[in-house]
Amino acid sequence: MLTNVSPINADSLRVAKSILEKGGVVAFPTETVYGLGADARLDSAVEEIYKIKGRPSDNPLIVHVHRDYDLSLLISDEQPYVKKLREAFLPGPLTLVYRGKNAVSKKVSCGLDTLAIRVPAHDGAQEFLRSVDMPIAAPSANISKHISPVSAEHVLEDLGGRIPLILDGGRCSGGIESTVCDVTGEIPVVLRSGLISMEMIADVVGRCDTYIPKAGEQVRSPGMKYKHYAPKCSTLLFEFNQLDEALLEFRRLLEQGKRVLILCEKEIGYLFPKESVLNLGATETEMAANLYQLLHEGEKRADVLIGIVPKKHDGIMAGVINRLSKACAGE
Ligand code: TXA
Ligand code: MG
Repeated sequence: MLTNVSPINADSLRVAKSILEKGGVVAFPTETVYGLGADARLDSAVEEIYKIKGRPSDNPLIVHVHRDYDLSLLISDEQPYVKKLREAFLPGPLTLVYRGKNAVSKKVSCGLDTLAIRVPAHDGAQEFLRSVDMPIAAPSANISKHISPVSAEHVLEDLGGRIPLILDGGRCSGGIESTVCDVTGEIPVVLRSGLISMEMIADVVGRCDTYIPKAGEQVRSPGMKYKHYAPKCSTLLFEFNQLDEALLEFRRLLEQGKRVLILCEKEIGYLFPKESVLNLGATETEMAANLYQLLHEGEKRADVLIGIVPKKHDGIMAGVINRLSKACAGE
């Protein structure tokens, strides 16, 4: 199959719509990462997503809709605080998990009675969702377990030849996936951290918990149990307080003739030779925006990629460190 990469315009949107209406898939940009979208109401289209990505069949998908989409078509009742969250953060990088209404294929939520819905802020994503005007099931547009794509090139590298169309909306500005927040209970619970931090949610509704699976319990967000975001090269991870060990390991690997790159925040980059540093940046939004782009660069240029966990851990950094740890340390 030939994969077309096209800017978002009337022609490409028409093609996208006709592919989706036939039960096919289309990759599209969002402000977080690129998504691989299909009509969420069609079993066969949703199955196609799992097949193309090689995604485990018990890891549910997020449904994407445009900003004026009538949510009551998809969800039943909701908690009183949820409206406040939507008003504060949507459209934006926050996915809310509601009680579903069986309006989409059962394969979307893998048999759970909940439905995750996201209204992305990216202009191109909004144009796309408005023009197709259907609920679009979409995971990140990468092969399962590989680094998430933040440009059309990244999507092409992973899925070229397997999908007919990539809508190119440039580099994703946010850089890590949306926060996934369960709003079915009295208190919102963050299942996956992201650009909307739990502190930001608590500021709006008064309280917010973070989900920590207990030993032996069935995970509430099945995506949590899988390895994720992994580059193709070898990886190592050091904590911020293990800088000496990181330096020793760096030198040891260089002596073995390995190509080694260090992925770290700006503040400690000076410890390593300039040409060996992949600079995450200084602020939390910079580090989120650069993480996947640099992991993609790193896997192409290095035999071993050494991640160093940044110093700050709260706010958006919870999401950045979660991704970095999974990418560089596996499970
Ligand atoms: O930013 C994003 O969220 C991107 C873009 C494309 O919108 N999408 C994305 O999708 O990251 P994906 O499939 O890579 O991750 C979806 C996450 C998984 O961790 C999954 O387990 C969780 O959302 N999820 C989906 N539906 C759920 C549900 N009903 N209950 C709990 N967790 C759910
Ligand atoms: Mg993903």
